Amino acid sequence: MSLTQLEESCRDCRLCGLCATRRNVVFGVGNPDADVLFVGEGPGEQEDLQGEPFVGPAGKLLDDMLCIIDLSRKENCYIANIVKCRPPHNRDPLEIEQDACIGYLEKQMELIQPKILVCLGRIAAMRLIREDYRITREHGQWMEKNGVWMTAIYHPSALLRDVSKRPETFADLISIREKMKELGI
Ligand code: URA
Repeated sequence: MSLTQLEESCRDCRLCGLCATRRNVVFGVGNPDADVLFVGEGPGEQEDLQGEPFVGPAGKLLDDMLCIIDLSRKENCYIANIVKCRPPHNRDPLEIEQDACIGYLEKQMELIQPKILVCLGRIAAMRLIREDYRITREHGQWMEKNGVWMTAIYHPSALLRDVSKRPETFADLISIREKMKELGI
């Protein structure tokens, strides 16, 4: 199955209640051959309207962050979310919704085969790295899981709310750049 076929099947998904209120499924964007995969938590209002991840204010900041380390959604990375449909009022996706949706992300990872996975924020890190992951203490640390190097950084929305977190995130971005070099990316 190709990424496009997977996206088509995801478009009709009714595996959880979020299908009732979504305007668009937000499958993912980027290069299917990317070595670096970024994963957020779920679409917000703008993403739901446009069908693309991280296109609102947090998305603009994410694009600037990617630019610092020579990455761009149009060329050399891929961006997805834990859940593909917008949770109403931007609440955190429920565990039952994450459980229903995670199969799509697992298939995306199988098809893309990234060397590096960067969790954007607490929700993605708790789902993909460790259930009790503490973003404040552990952001920027690396671990290898099934041959994939994984880390987490603050969610761009958190960086919009609290600019004091930005210097730490800059250091985390540099560490991602170094890991890319180390892996020959
Ligand atoms: N926040 C996310 O976690 N994902 C998006 O796609 C947009 C905002």
